[in-house]
Amino acid sequence: MTDITGRTAFITGGANGIGLGMARAFAQHGVKLALADLDTAALDRAKAELSAITEVETVVLDVRDRDAYGKAADAVEARLGPISLLFNNAGIAGGAHVGKMNYALWDWGLGINLGGVVNGVQTFVPRMIDRGAGGHVINTASGAGLAGTASGVLYCTSKFAVVGMSEAMRADLASAGIGVSVLCPGPVATDIVLRSSDSKPDAEILTEADKAKLAERNTMVTAFLKQGTTIEAAGKMVLDAVQRGQFYIHTDRMMLPMLEARQKELLDAMPPES
Ligand SMILES: NC(=O)c1ccc[n+]([C@@H]2O[C@H](COP(=O)([O-])OP(=O)(O)OC[C@H]3O[C@@H](n4cnc5c(N)ncnc54)[C@H](O)[C@@H]3O)[C@@H](O)[C@H]2O)c1
Repeated sequence: MTDITGRTAFITGGANGIGLGMARAFAQHGVKLALADLDTAALDRAKAELSAITEVETVVLDVRDRDAYGKAADAVEARLGPISLLFNNAGIAGGAHVGKMNYALWDWGLGINLGGVVNGVQTFVPRMIDRGAGGHVINTASGAGLAGTASGVLYCTSKFAVVGMSEAMRADLASAGIGVSVLCPGPVATDIVLRSSDSKPDAEILTEADKAKLAERNTMVTAFLKQGTTIEAAGKMVLDAVQRGQFYIHTDRMMLPMLEARQKELLDAMPPES
């Protein structure tokens, strides 16, 4: 259980989507916000909206940039006070069939979805431990981090890693009074697919026909996500889980059959007792 009263949060990918939903939910409870993102226009919009409720600072940051991450942390802590709620949330979706992947795609996806979480942890967790005031780390993974899904090899690899990292961190941080939660959303109504396409380095592996097929798929997946959980509802689920000290956070029950099937296959593969 984490008491969030008087705390300050650092939320990566906080300008849009789930990050913004979490920012809104925590702002309603008086939490001060440092929002980090690459999208400057969306950062400005979020600051204009949330400043009416709480103190807000924004920082333009690529979560892959370790030096910039440290400087961003120093700057926001000087203005808002110590960060004790860390949201490693910035992420992208996409990739390619495993037979078509290239190193640029692996570096892009793992760099943001996993490297960004590593950089957040490296930057803030030692500070949180040294200060002795507890806190909470919330890592955004995905349902695709709990079972292999159609989200693809790159996305699943990055999100499984975030789930594993979070499980191990929970044990490490318990004695410091720092809680850990891992958010494993199902579909949430955001523009992640279209936004990710802008930075995805796949131009050299795609034929014109592939591009047309991909554009069609992106439109279809975006329409599917639009019917998912709202960012406001997801934000409230995270707030509730942090306050109750809940580790896994699902936003719907969509993964249930896949989790049951995976669990059964795993347990059935155990050798018999000798
Ligand atoms: N939307 C879903 O259905 C869904 C489902 C499962 C998991 N997730 C995960 O939730 C997280 C948030 O996704 P979302 O759906 O809100 O997407 P989104 O695109 O709405 O928001 C992601 C934010 O991260 C920012 N960002 C991207 N790359 C960055 C970088 N290198 N450095 C800093 N900021 C960067 C974007 O500018 C954007 O503001 C991601 O980790 C995603 O994988 C989303």
